[in-house]
Amino acid sequence: MFILKLAYKTLNIRGVIFMGLMTGKKGIIFGVSNKFGIANAIAEQLFEQGAEIAFTYANEAMEKRVRPIAESMNAKMCLECDVTKEEDVKKVFEEYEKTYDKLDFVVHAVAFANKDDLMGDFYTVSKEGWDLAMHVSAYSLVTISKYAKPQMEKSGGGSILALTYLGSTKVVANYNIMGVAKAALESSMRFIANDLGKYNIRCNCLSAGPIKTMAAKGIGGFDRMLKANVLKAPLKRTPDVSEVGKAGLYLLSDLSSAVTGQVQFVDCGASSVFASLDEMAQIQF
Ligand SMILES: NC(=O)c1ccc[n+]([C@@H]2O[C@H](COP(=O)([O-])OP(=O)(O)OC[C@H]3O[C@@H](n4cnc5c(N)ncnc54)[C@H](O)[C@@H]3O)[C@@H](O)[C@H]2O)c1
Repeated sequence: MFILKLAYKTLNIRGVIFMGLMTGKKGIIFGVSNKFGIANAIAEQLFEQGAEIAFTYANEAMEKRVRPIAESMNAKMCLECDVTKEEDVKKVFEEYEKTYDKLDFVVHAVAFANKDDLMGDFYTVSKEGWDLAMHVSAYSLVTISKYAKPQMEKSGGGSILALTYLGSTKVVANYNIMGVAKAALESSMRFIANDLGKYNIRCNCLSAGPIKTMAAKGIGGFDRMLKANVLKAPLKRTPDVSEVGKAGLYLLSDLSSAVTGQVQFVDCGASSVFASLDEMAQIQF
């Protein structure tokens, strides 16, 4: 399968050189966990379209899951990086510069909050829980963008993409502190887009509908969140992770060359509906 994929990447069926949307583009993905995650789905789309990808993993325990994925995509670099440690982020970009000659894209698919802060009353969140979620899930985009900027500027521009969720602007039960962190992430994204636009560096957020991933398991009653999306969404389903991957490809490729400072929803339309007929039908008088 892998050989076939590689052959497809290089040649099309007529035997001429295949030019993918990302041929010649190089970048870093933060946040791959396993084959079910959103970062992996974006990586697969980028790789299929010819991108060269460097990977990071959060800690030693994650390495055994991430390294095989990185190797399957011929990565020249796969480094440990806790995004709350600025020295780790700095090292990733230093090592990247030694290994690759340009930086075209960066994906931020990183989030974390204490399980206790993803259920119950939001207002009981501790200062420590607030700081942790904000640091990992929002401030890290600022750190990553700061270190990406010089290399992207040298490359003539680039695209930075962060993953977000509707809970940033609307109350979604149990999303709690992560909603506040995603609000900070989206706002940071707009300021970064404004600052870096003059270097032809774009910054956007992709707001995915609920998908069963490792991180999602930490959210109280996540299965109900999936069902709620089905009831509300015009498409009557949740997005497949590969559909989020494809939207990631769009935002990281030249297809979106005039798009910056935006939140792109990939949620089967759920965010556009207040009350669907299916939801109304459940109301008993
Ligand atoms: N799954 C969903 O329903 C959904 C919906 C919308 C947005 N998102 C967002 O998508 C992104 C990816 O999440 P996912 O759902 O694919 O889950 P995931 O578990 O695959 O990814 C989360 C990643 O964050 C990493 N991480 C956590 N703390 C870190 C730290 N301190 N330093 C470095 N990395 C750290 C984890 O190792 C993991 O790789 C997150 O930002 C998440 O909030 C997810």
